[in-house]
Amino acid sequence: MQKRWAFSTFFVMVFVAVVMVGAGVDRGSERFSMDGGKRGTVEFPHHMHQDALTDCGVCHDLFPKSAGAIQEMKSSGSLKKKQVMNSKCISCHKRLKKEKKAAGPVKCGQCHTRT
Ligand code: HEC
Ligand code: HEC
Ligand code: HEC
Repeated sequence: MQKRWAFSTFFVMVFVAVVMVGAGVDRGSERFSMDGGKRGTVEFPHHMHQDALTDCGVCHDLFPKSAGAIQEMKSSGSLKKKQVMNSKCISCHKRLKKEKKAAGPVKCGQCHTRT
């Protein structure tokens, strides 16, 4: 009886460990509403980009994988206003468009909600 209890405890622990490892490869939110200042909010499909680009570092070499990181870095001055927008979002979309590949929007009103 005692042995059986120890056995199921072991499986509960394995289950918890698997869940924790799963959380270690946290993909973050499926999508974000990003602060676009006076130009209005930008809806960003995060998981769609992860699937299309596979490499997290394409974006996260500039800012860490944490919620609110861009805002914090902008207010501390380690990121300039529109730096993510210009050096990441728009430059990649423009490059892919030029290469005639599937790309994202390049016009203000296609990203920002305030038209
Ligand atoms: C095209 C750009 C881009 C790529 C590629 C990307 N991310 Fe992100 N990620 C973002 C942005 C933008 C944020 C929001 C940062 C903020 O809130 O300031 C973010 C935030 C996050 C967060 C924290 C916010 C949350 O959802 O809780 C995690 C975790 C994360 N990313 C994981 C990943 C992983 C893992 C990959 C690769 C599989 C990846 N990201 C690829 C742009 C990207
Ligand atoms: C591909 C999407 C995209 C396009 C196209 C785009 N933006 Fe942005 N914009 C963003 C994102 C994401 C942010 C927030 C991150 C940052 O500031 O770099 C932002 C931020 C901004 C901000 C706020 C900066 C601040 O910190 O106050 C302004 C203003 C802005 N954009 C204006 C424009 C204008 C004007 C255009 C057209 C010429 C434009 N954007 C096109 C995605 C885009
Ligand atoms: C390294 C390249 C790359 C970067 C960086 C990147 N994108 Fe994209 N984006 C793509 C590609 C590729 C697609 C189109 C995928 C498809 O249609 O299959 C796309 C599509 C989009 C779309 C259209 C989604 C839809 O439903 O059609 C939006 C909006 C967008 N990106 C916003 C952003 C914003 C905001 C940023 C910066 C935070 C960003 N992207 C950074 C490559 C990039």
